[in-house]
Amino acid sequence: MEVLLDAAAIEQRVAGMAAEIERDHPEGEEIHLVCVLKGGFMFMADLVRSMSARVTMDFIAVSSYARSTKSSGEVRLLKDVDSGLQDRHVVIVEDIVDTGLTLIYLQEILRARAPRSLRTACLLSKPSRRLVDVTVDYVGFTIEDRFVVGYGLDYAEQYRNLDHIAVLDGE
Ligand code: IMP
Ligand code: MG
Repeated sequence: MEVLLDAAAIEQRVAGMAAEIERDHPEGEEIHLVCVLKGGFMFMADLVRSMSARVTMDFIAVSSYARSTKSSGEVRLLKDVDSGLQDRHVVIVEDIVDTGLTLIYLQEILRARAPRSLRTACLLSKPSRRLVDVTVDYVGFTIEDRFVVGYGLDYAEQYRNLDHIAVLDGE
């Protein structure tokens, strides 16, 4: 498979995003990161290791594409966060924003829980595929409309373990 982003490029950009997130939050205040499973797990793990602020973490899961590479447009909550968000500085940590439907749904349900602030960090963005106008505060890399795998992202649950981002063969 063609390597789109190698491990070194990702490492450097993720560290930069961690610094941006810390800069945007009041010093000394806790940052609560909500990782979107499963795709966001590796990004989350690297992001928090680059942060020196006080952080807490939680995990949420929504329905994904299953075995297709095209979005169904249907979003379903599979696993909710474990703790409340009221008055906390929340950052959604997501692997990729494609049509934006997943993210807009997540932002809506999390905003309803009255966090002090709500921001979103996505490692990847495919703006050409956007169907809804969704705000992403931190974007790692903007990419073309190609199906990518690795660094948490899958195709039929495969390739999540790659330390880099590759373009799926045949795309
Ligand atoms: P959206 O709702 O269309 O923005 O889709 C977001 C979700 O679709 C992401 O969280 C991914 O899980 C999945 N997704 C979108 N594009 C890709 C891709 O190129 N590779 C792997 N998963 C993708
Ligand atoms: Mg995802």
